[in-house]
Formats: sequence, structure tokens, C-alpha cells
Amino acid sequence: MKKPDVRGFFDPITATWSYVVYADGETDTRCAIIDSVLDYDIYSSRVKTESADRIIDFIKKKGLEVEWILETHIHADHLTGSAYIKEKLDGKTAISKHILKVLKTWEPLFHNEEDTPLNGSQFDHIFEDDEIFTVGPFEARIIYTPGHTPSDTSYLIGDAVFVGDAMFLPDVGTGRCDFPDGSAEDSYRSSRKLFKLPESYRMYVGHDYPPKGTRSPECMTSIAEQKHRNIRVHEGISKEDYVTKRNNDDKGKAVPKLLLPSIQVNLRAGKFGKKMDGVQYIKLPIDKI
Ligand SMILES: [Fe+2]
Repeated sequence: MKKPDVRGFFDPITATWSYVVYADGETDTRCAIIDSVLDYDIYSSRVKTESADRIIDFIKKKGLEVEWILETHIHADHLTGSAYIKEKLDGKTAISKHILKVLKTWEPLFHNEEDTPLNGSQFDHIFEDDEIFTVGPFEARIIYTPGHTPSDTSYLIGDAVFVGDAMFLPDVGTGRCDFPDGSAEDSYRSSRKLFKLPESYRMYVGHDYPPKGTRSPECMTSIAEQKHRNIRVHEGISKEDYVTKRNNDDKGKAVPKLLLPSIQVNLRAGKFGKKMDGVQYIKLPIDKI
């Protein structure tokens, strides 16, 4: 059986990897987009679509049809390009059912219920844990991998697993666990869940922050590499040691620059919400986080 082809797109501003998963040269041209980016400059409050347009151009050139526009979680450091891409190319936006917890947490802060339903209906599909689905000719499955946030979900497509911020490359470790309802214990358990996959399976990460002066940004490793070399969660590290170090390292970490714009837009599946007199606003609550 053919393995999925994966094209990664790196956004250097937010160190985010977005992916297109497809079957190159096959008659089945359906593909999935994972964790796209909408460029947003917080100083000028201007939106650009260069990152999303790179993905759109690739899909057009390859003659692909967008089946899914997937999010691994509600990102706190960048805006998703999902609504923009859907408008241009169609496709179903989707996320795990655990987004409902995140909606509940943030709704009281933004008071956006009018355009950000608490039942998640702003997404075209809400995945159950372990749900089986397909991406073009490939079988796919949901693996619930919380820790970084309570909504983190990995997508296993063929032999490739897209883990978002549940795990980073071996020399980087795992995603921070200090967001609301994040949990270093859950993060450790999620790593063990991913380690149950065959060692030869490919793992694609949601960000890369290469240690200074070592290498350029990369996006792929294997389950075997992670088991043996991940600096935070490799086999042999106990849950207690991981949790203590993760929590210590997360103490006093800066709030991501785009947290407030990102959360409200990402909870709306990439839309900016209601305009006032034709002007689009973003809400910035004062002294609340
Ligand atoms: Fe994240």
C-alpha cells in the first residue's frame, strides 16, 4: 500500500509547521491540510495570507482536492488559516471534541457566544476519540494526546502521525503544559500512547525550535527516534521526573505574543467574527490573563 506523501510548510515568524497530506500521482486527489497559518502582525493589526497562499498554490499546482482542513488543537501562538483556505478551496474544517472544554474556559473572557457557539458547530466536523476516517485513499485515526492543552489530538494517516505540540523533535522535547487545563502528567501519558505505534512510523511536529546554532528547522522524525532520543520523554524517563522538569521549566514562561488574538479566532474555526460598521475588531481583555 502506498504511503501518504507529506509536504511541510514552515512559517519562520511563529516557527509553525503546516502540512498537506496527499497521494502523489494517484487518481484519488483528495488531501488534508493540517495546522495552517494566517499571518497576523500584532503591531499594525494587519492580516496577510502569504503562508496560507503558499499552501493554496501547492494544492492547485498538484491538482488536489481539499477533503479536510484539520487542527491538532486551539493554537495560542498563531492564527489558523482554515477559514481563509476553506473560502478559497472548500474542504471540511475539523477538530477534536475536546475543543468544547477550551470553549468553556475562554468564553467567559471573550463573550463571543453569538458567533462562537459552545457546541463547536463552527467546525464542519468534531472528531470523537479514536474515530476512524479517511484522507483520500488512506485510512486515518484520531489519537487523543492532551497535555499541552486539553484539546490536543494527533492525526494518524497511513504511517504518518501528526502530533501538533504533543511532542517536538528529539532535541527539542515536548510542548509547554502551562496553558489552562494543560497537564504535564497528561503530556507524559500522551507520549506513551504515541510510543505504542510501530517504531518505523513517521512523526510530524507542529513547531520546530532548533537549539541555537545546531541545525535548520525540520519537521519529521520517527517513533523509534523519539523513544530513544527525545530529550524530555524518551523511554526510561519516569513520569515523576518528566512532570517535575516540565513544570519547573514552564514556571514564569512568557505569554505567547499572539495568545489573545489567536484563541478567539481559532475557537471560531479561523473566522474573525462579527464586524461593527464594516470594521473588523479583535478583543483584548485587560488584566485578565
Ligand atoms: Fe500550541
